[in-house]
Amino acid sequence: MEVIVSVATSLDGYIDDSSTTRLKLSSPEDWGDVLDLRCGCDAILVGAGTLRADNPSLVIKSDEERQKRAINGLSKDIVKVSVTSSGCVDKDMRFFTEGSGLKILFAKRGAETSLVQDLCEVIVLEDITAESIINELSSRGFKRLLVEGGSTILTMFFKENMVDKLRLAIAPFFVGDSASPRFVRDELFFANKDNRMNLINVRQLGDMAVMEYERER
Ligand SMILES: NC(=O)c1ccc[n+]([C@@H]2O[C@H](COP(=O)([O-])OP(=O)(O)OC[C@H]3O[C@@H](n4cnc5c(N)ncnc54)[C@H](OP(=O)(O)O)[C@@H]3O)[C@@H](O)[C@H]2O)c1
Repeated sequence: MEVIVSVATSLDGYIDDSSTTRLKLSSPEDWGDVLDLRCGCDAILVGAGTLRADNPSLVIKSDEERQKRAINGLSKDIVKVSVTSSGCVDKDMRFFTEGSGLKILFAKRGAETSLVQDLCEVIVLEDITAESIINELSSRGFKRLLVEGGSTILTMFFKENMVDKLRLAIAPFFVGDSASPRFVRDELFFANKDNRMNLINVRQLGDMAVMEYERER
Protein backbone atom coordinates (compact mmCIF):
# COMPACT_ATOMS: atom_id res chain seq x y z
CA MET A 1 0.00 0.00 0.00
CA GLU A 2 1.24 3.47 -0.88
CA VAL A 3 1.45 5.83 2.10
CA ILE A 4 1.24 9.57 1.42
CA VAL A 5 1.68 12.19 4.12
CA SER A 6 0.07 15.57 3.53
CA VAL A 7 0.85 18.33 5.98
CA ALA A 8 0.76 22.12 6.09
CA THR A 9 3.17 24.05 8.29
CA SER A 10 4.11 27.61 9.15
CA LEU A 11 7.54 28.97 8.15
CA ASP A 12 8.83 27.89 11.56
CA GLY A 13 7.51 24.33 11.24
CA TYR A 14 4.33 24.46 13.31
CA ILE A 15 1.15 22.68 12.19
CA ASP A 16 -1.19 24.62 14.47
CA ASP A 17 -0.97 27.29 17.15
CA SER A 18 -1.64 26.81 20.86
CA SER A 19 -5.12 28.38 20.81
CA THR A 20 -8.29 26.31 20.98
CA THR A 21 -9.32 27.22 17.44
CA ARG A 22 -7.82 25.54 14.37
CA LEU A 23 -5.08 27.58 12.69
CA LYS A 24 -5.76 28.17 8.99
CA LEU A 25 -2.50 27.55 7.15
CA SER A 26 -3.62 26.71 3.57
CA SER A 27 -4.50 29.13 0.77
CA PRO A 28 -7.73 28.31 -1.14
CA GLU A 29 -5.59 26.99 -4.03
CA ASP A 30 -3.60 24.71 -1.72
CA TRP A 31 -6.75 23.49 0.01
CA GLY A 32 -8.31 22.62 -3.38
CA ASP A 33 -5.23 20.60 -4.25
CA VAL A 34 -5.40 18.73 -0.91
CA LEU A 35 -9.05 17.88 -1.59
CA ASP A 36 -8.02 16.51 -5.02
CA LEU A 37 -5.36 14.38 -3.33
CA ARG A 38 -7.93 13.04 -0.86
CA CYS A 39 -10.17 12.11 -3.78
CA GLY A 40 -7.53 9.75 -5.16
CA CYS A 41 -6.97 7.85 -1.90
CA ASP A 42 -8.81 4.86 -0.41
CA ALA A 43 -8.43 6.01 3.17
CA ILE A 44 -7.49 9.04 5.26
CA LEU A 45 -5.89 8.83 8.71
CA VAL A 46 -5.68 11.35 11.54
CA GLY A 47 -4.93 10.65 15.19
CA ALA A 48 -7.42 11.02 18.03
CA GLY A 49 -5.59 14.20 19.07
CA THR A 50 -6.63 15.82 15.80
CA LEU A 51 -10.22 14.59 16.23
CA ARG A 52 -10.29 16.28 19.65
CA ALA A 53 -8.51 19.48 18.53
CA ASP A 54 -10.15 20.12 15.15
CA ASN A 55 -13.20 17.85 14.94
CA PRO A 56 -12.63 17.37 11.16
CA SER A 57 -15.33 15.73 9.02
CA LEU A 58 -12.84 14.27 6.47
CA VAL A 59 -15.63 13.59 3.97
CA ILE A 60 -15.66 14.03 0.18
CA LYS A 61 -18.33 16.69 -0.19
CA SER A 62 -18.54 17.19 -3.97
CA ASP A 63 -20.93 14.84 -5.80
CA GLU A 64 -18.76 15.18 -8.90
CA GLU A 65 -15.69 13.99 -6.98
CA ARG A 66 -17.68 11.12 -5.46
CA GLN A 67 -18.73 10.02 -8.97
CA LYS A 68 -15.14 10.34 -10.17
CA ARG A 69 -14.01 8.09 -7.32
CA ALA A 70 -16.55 5.46 -8.29
CA ILE A 71 -15.37 5.55 -11.93
CA ASN A 72 -11.79 5.08 -10.69
CA GLY A 73 -12.82 2.00 -8.70
CA LEU A 74 -12.74 3.68 -5.29
CA SER A 75 -15.57 3.78 -2.76
CA LYS A 76 -17.64 6.96 -3.21
CA ASP A 77 -16.77 8.00 0.33
CA ILE A 78 -13.18 7.95 1.53
CA VAL A 79 -12.63 5.48 4.37
CA LYS A 80 -11.85 7.38 7.57
CA VAL A 81 -9.27 6.00 9.97
CA SER A 82 -8.19 7.11 13.44
CA VAL A 83 -6.05 5.81 16.28
CA THR A 84 -6.41 5.92 20.06
CA SER A 85 -4.82 4.37 23.10
CA SER A 86 -7.05 6.10 25.67
CA GLY A 87 -10.38 5.63 23.88
CA CYS A 88 -11.00 9.31 24.54
CA VAL A 89 -13.18 9.92 21.48
CA ASP A 90 -16.76 11.13 21.44
CA LYS A 91 -19.67 9.67 19.50
CA ASP A 92 -20.68 13.21 18.44
CA MET A 93 -17.37 13.85 16.68
CA ARG A 94 -17.87 14.56 12.97
CA PHE A 95 -15.47 11.70 12.25
CA PHE A 96 -18.25 9.33 13.39
CA THR A 97 -21.35 11.29 12.43
CA GLU A 98 -20.55 12.59 8.93
CA GLY A 99 -20.29 10.63 5.68
CA SER A 100 -21.66 7.22 4.82
CA GLY A 101 -18.27 5.60 4.23
CA LEU A 102 -16.52 3.09 6.46
CA LYS A 103 -14.91 4.45 9.63
CA ILE A 104 -12.13 2.50 11.29
CA LEU A 105 -10.77 3.15 14.77
CA PHE A 106 -7.51 1.46 15.80
CA ALA A 107 -7.66 1.09 19.56
CA LYS A 108 -4.94 -0.14 21.89
CA ARG A 109 -6.10 -3.09 23.94
CA GLY A 110 -7.86 -1.81 27.05
CA ALA A 111 -9.11 1.44 25.45
CA GLU A 112 -12.73 2.15 26.33
CA THR A 113 -14.48 2.32 22.95
CA SER A 114 -17.96 1.04 23.79
CA LEU A 115 -19.60 4.43 23.07
CA VAL A 116 -18.44 4.43 19.44
CA GLN A 117 -18.34 0.73 18.60
CA ASP A 118 -21.70 0.91 16.76
CA LEU A 119 -20.48 3.87 14.69
CA CYS A 120 -17.27 2.40 13.33
CA GLU A 121 -15.19 -0.73 12.98
CA VAL A 122 -12.91 -0.98 16.00
CA ILE A 123 -9.64 -2.84 15.44
CA VAL A 124 -8.05 -3.69 18.77
CA LEU A 125 -4.29 -4.22 18.77
CA GLU A 126 -1.82 -4.92 21.57
CA ASP A 127 0.61 -2.41 20.14
CA ILE A 128 -0.31 0.06 17.40
CA THR A 129 2.48 0.92 15.01
CA ALA A 130 2.47 2.50 11.56
CA GLU A 131 3.39 -0.92 10.18
CA SER A 132 0.49 -2.65 11.93
CA ILE A 133 -1.95 -0.02 10.62
CA ILE A 134 -0.61 -0.45 7.08
CA ASN A 135 -0.81 -4.25 7.32
CA GLU A 136 -4.42 -4.17 8.55
CA LEU A 137 -5.51 -1.68 5.89
CA SER A 138 -3.63 -3.54 3.13
CA SER A 139 -5.36 -6.78 4.12
CA ARG A 140 -8.68 -5.00 3.45
CA GLY A 141 -7.53 -4.23 -0.09
CA PHE A 142 -6.72 -0.54 0.37
CA LYS A 143 -4.03 0.70 -2.01
CA ARG A 144 -3.47 4.36 -1.04
CA LEU A 145 -3.49 5.78 2.47
CA LEU A 146 -3.35 9.52 3.10
CA VAL A 147 -1.95 10.42 6.52
CA GLU A 148 -2.72 14.00 7.56
CA GLY A 149 -1.60 14.31 11.18
CA GLY A 150 -1.12 15.38 13.82
CA SER A 151 2.42 15.48 15.22
CA THR A 152 2.25 12.17 17.09
CA ILE A 153 0.95 10.21 14.11
CA LEU A 154 3.37 11.87 11.66
CA THR A 155 6.30 11.17 13.99
CA MET A 156 5.31 7.49 14.21
CA PHE A 157 5.07 7.08 10.42
CA PHE A 158 8.40 8.84 9.71
CA LYS A 159 10.20 7.16 12.62
CA GLU A 160 9.22 3.75 11.25
CA ASN A 161 10.11 4.79 7.69
CA MET A 162 6.59 3.99 6.51
CA VAL A 163 6.08 6.99 4.23
CA ASP A 164 6.39 6.73 0.43
CA LYS A 165 5.49 10.33 -0.42
CA LEU A 166 5.39 13.59 1.49
CA ARG A 167 3.37 16.61 0.37
CA LEU A 168 4.58 19.53 2.47
CA ALA A 169 2.81 22.89 2.11
CA ILE A 170 4.41 25.90 3.78
CA ALA A 171 2.39 28.97 4.73
CA PRO A 172 4.13 32.36 4.54
CA PHE A 173 4.01 33.27 8.22
CA PHE A 174 5.54 32.37 11.57
CA VAL A 175 3.66 30.99 14.57
CA GLY A 176 6.51 31.80 16.95
CA ASP A 177 5.14 29.90 19.94
CA SER A 178 6.93 26.72 21.05
CA ALA A 179 3.79 25.59 22.92
CA SER A 180 2.30 24.86 19.48
CA PRO A 181 2.48 21.42 17.81
CA ARG A 182 5.36 20.93 15.41
CA PHE A 183 5.32 18.89 12.19
CA VAL A 184 7.14 16.08 14.05
CA ARG A 185 8.37 15.60 17.61
CA ASP A 186 12.02 14.92 18.55
CA GLU A 187 12.97 11.49 17.20
CA LEU A 188 15.63 9.60 15.25
CA PHE A 189 14.39 9.54 11.68
CA PHE A 190 15.44 7.42 8.70
CA ALA A 191 15.39 10.59 6.61
CA ASN A 192 18.30 12.50 8.14
CA LYS A 193 21.39 14.43 7.08
CA ASP A 194 23.04 11.26 5.74
CA ASN A 195 19.90 9.91 4.11
CA ARG A 196 18.02 12.65 2.31
CA MET A 197 14.55 12.38 0.82
CA ASN A 198 14.13 12.92 -2.93
CA LEU A 199 12.57 16.26 -3.79
CA ILE A 200 10.45 15.56 -6.87
CA ASN A 201 8.27 18.65 -7.31
CA VAL A 202 7.93 22.27 -6.14
CA ARG A 203 4.84 24.36 -6.82
CA GLN A 204 3.33 27.68 -5.77
CA LEU A 205 -0.38 27.44 -4.91
CA GLY A 206 -1.61 30.92 -4.00
CA ASP A 207 0.83 32.07 -1.33
CA MET A 208 1.74 28.50 -0.28
CA ALA A 209 4.96 26.73 -1.33
CA VAL A 210 4.16 23.06 -1.95
CA MET A 211 6.98 20.52 -2.01
CA GLU A 212 6.66 16.85 -2.85
CA TYR A 213 9.21 14.29 -1.72
CA GLU A 214 9.57 10.59 -2.38
CA ARG A 215 11.36 7.95 -0.41
CA GLU A 216 11.98 4.26 -0.77
CA ARG A 217 10.69 2.25 2.17
N1 LIG B 1 -1.39 21.42 9.65
C1 LIG B 1 -1.77 20.21 9.37
O1 LIG B 1 -1.60 19.74 8.23
C2 LIG B 1 -2.43 19.37 10.44
C3 LIG B 1 -3.07 18.18 10.09
C4 LIG B 1 -3.64 17.41 11.11
C5 LIG B 1 -3.54 17.84 12.44
N2 LIG B 1 -2.92 19.00 12.73
C6 LIG B 1 -2.79 19.45 14.14
O2 LIG B 1 -2.16 18.43 14.90
C7 LIG B 1 -2.48 18.67 16.28
C8 LIG B 1 -2.74 17.33 16.96
O3 LIG B 1 -1.52 16.61 17.03
P1 LIG B 1 -1.34 15.55 18.21
O4 LIG B 1 0.04 15.04 18.13
O5 LIG B 1 -1.81 16.16 19.49
O6 LIG B 1 -2.43 14.45 17.86
P2 LIG B 1 -2.55 13.30 16.76
O7 LIG B 1 -1.22 12.92 16.20
O8 LIG B 1 -3.62 13.68 15.81
O9 LIG B 1 -3.12 12.13 17.66
C9 LIG B 1 -2.37 11.66 18.73
C10 LIG B 1 -3.22 10.65 19.45
O10 LIG B 1 -3.44 9.50 18.60
C11 LIG B 1 -3.39 8.33 19.38
N3 LIG B 1 -2.19 7.60 19.00
C12 LIG B 1 -1.15 8.02 18.27
N4 LIG B 1 -0.24 7.03 18.11
C13 LIG B 1 -0.74 5.96 18.76
C14 LIG B 1 -0.28 4.64 18.96
N5 LIG B 1 0.89 4.21 18.44
N6 LIG B 1 -1.03 3.79 19.68
C15 LIG B 1 -2.22 4.20 20.20
N7 LIG B 1 -2.72 5.45 20.04
C16 LIG B 1 -1.98 6.32 19.33
C17 LIG B 1 -3.35 8.77 20.83
O11 LIG B 1 -4.71 8.98 21.17
P3 LIG B 1 -5.28 9.01 22.66
O12 LIG B 1 -4.74 10.27 23.27
O13 LIG B 1 -6.76 9.03 22.48
O14 LIG B 1 -4.78 7.78 23.33
C18 LIG B 1 -2.59 10.09 20.72
O15 LIG B 1 -2.76 10.96 21.80
C19 LIG B 1 -3.71 19.57 16.29
O16 LIG B 1 -3.32 20.84 16.76
C20 LIG B 1 -4.12 19.66 14.83
O17 LIG B 1 -4.65 20.90 14.47
C21 LIG B 1 -2.37 19.79 11.77
